[in-house]
Amino acid sequence: MKILLINGSPKGKNSNSLRLANSFMEGLRIKAEEQGQSVELEELDVSSLKIAPCKGCFSCWRNTPGSCCIKDAMPMVIEKEIAADLIIWSFPLYYFNVPGSLKNLIDRQLPMVLPFMSERSDGCGSGGHDARYDMKGKRHVLISTCGFYSAENNYDSVTKMFDHFLGRGNYTSIFCGQGELFRVKELSERTDEYLELVKKAGAEYACGGITDATDKELHTLLYPKEIFEKMADASWGVSKESGEKEADDLVFTRQMAALYNKNAYDGKDRVLEICYTDLGTTYQILLGKDGSKVITDGSLNPTTRIDTPFTVWASISRGEIGGAEALGKQMYTVSGDFSLMIDWDKFFGSMSSQTAAVKEEKETLKKPSMASMLIPWITFWIAVSINSVTGSIIAMAICALIPLLMRKRKLVLWDQLSIAAVACLSAIAAITGEGKLVTNAGYLVFGLFWLVSCITREPLCAAYVKYNYGGDKALNNPLFMNANYILAACWGALYICTAVWTYLLGKAGLGNILIIINNLVPIAMGLFTAWFEKWYPAWKARGKSS
Ligand SMILES: Cc1cc2nc3c(=O)[nH]c(=O)nc-3n(C[C@H](O)[C@H](O)[C@H](O)COP(=O)(O)O)c2cc1C
Repeated sequence: MKILLINGSPKGKNSNSLRLANSFMEGLRIKAEEQGQSVELEELDVSSLKIAPCKGCFSCWRNTPGSCCIKDAMPMVIEKEIAADLIIWSFPLYYFNVPGSLKNLIDRQLPMVLPFMSERSDGCGSGGHDARYDMKGKRHVLISTCGFYSAENNYDSVTKMFDHFLGRGNYTSIFCGQGELFRVKELSERTDEYLELVKKAGAEYACGGITDATDKELHTLLYPKEIFEKMADASWGVSKESGEKEADDLVFTRQMAALYNKNAYDGKDRVLEICYTDLGTTYQILLGKDGSKVITDGSLNPTTRIDTPFTVWASISRGEIGGAEALGKQMYTVSGDFSLMIDWDKFFGSMSSQTAAVKEEKETLKKPSMASMLIPWITFWIAVSINSVTGSIIAMAICALIPLLMRKRKLVLWDQLSIAAVACLSAIAAITGEGKLVTNAGYLVFGLFWLVSCITREPLCAAYVKYNYGGDKALNNPLFMNANYILAACWGALYICTAVWTYLLGKAGLGNILIIINNLVPIAMGLFTAWFEKWYPAWKARGKSS
């Protein structure tokens, strides 16, 4: 299959539209080659070709039928068009049409048609001209980006022109708004996602045509109108009020503020103060229910403050360093309300991460609960210590019921191991009648679970609480992981100690006070956990530990 890619952007290789065309080509080529077809690609960069405007002399019809009197690159272009099986027209939208240079090229195709008037079968216009060459079976794809937020209602002139030129229904098109975002590295998470979709469309085209589902997805906006327009306005680096050029760090901050997702607003107005330590500048972003606003005079009381070199913050937003990783390495510090940092993706993430964060929130019902692990143990410790046989039966019944009671939640490894351990220990207690000894062994096993988890990639508590911090992504966050390793080690140590003191106090005849100690200490530890889990990352982020 011979493919001719005509790049009609005056920006040549730097064209946004060309990025889409290349992704489409890649998907198409891979699929076609998988199907055993060989793919030959030829690319023409219109801006670097010498193509003069048509003189309107009709010599190509009258004097030298089929050949133009102007001697430039156009005969070569026509030759390649005739030879191609598929032509991809890649171009930006300029004043609601194709750029002048591409229109020039299209005008100069006059030698490709015969001069005689003919009727059109597709009802386009008041007549046409039959092709001079056999163009049947040739396929065409139009790929274009435009600057407004949406391609909808922007391409009417383009489609009218190509309907006349190629025939209505004789071409496939991909038109995408917000085209300038494709060159913004900071937004590549979202734009790459779109390029993947265009690649998929290319693969489907190789199999016959783009499916309705993919076509529908191709019509979704990269960013909502309001966010995009704010980002686009900020990108010019010129103040809207004064018309003066603005500093790069302020432009950057405005663009970051534009990304704020007001749907994440939780009833609490926030003021994010960001201090670029290497530049000595400070800006504030007011994050409210109606959107965000950048304040340059420092007049607000910050709720969260970030102290960072501008270079670090810019690298993070370009995805060169992970935000959590950089925080873990104290490349920047955070003080004040840390919840904004924990939910950063929800407030400032790309469209997909914002949606994922919101979706995750909606799916909270399904996340695992530590209750699935604790209920069997607590039942076992209380019931078996009161009566070995009856208690064991109750504990075993609870173990059997947990999967049913928790059927709406995910059961993690530690839930399953706990159910198995409690069931086994209960069986031993029932058979031996040694309730006290076996419940004590339970403390030991429970403590070992916590300690063993400290030598795995996911400490026990992290398996449950990671869902509050972005799921598996939290496992790459050194602050989250350190906090959880410390907590798991504390819980492990506490239960090993519980086993030891239960044994010793029991032997010393002080078994009665165990009921108080063994219940109060875990409650205290639970309270400590709830506090430490929030305090530790915020403390580290303030840079106070170094
Ligand atoms: C002269 C000129 C005219 C433009 N006209 C339009 C337009 O009518 N509608 C629109 O949405 N964008 C318009 N744009 C924006 C471009 O279509 C947009 O920046 C596009 O992504 C550029 O694509 P490219 O990088 O492939 O050249 C125009 C840009 C320029 C420079």
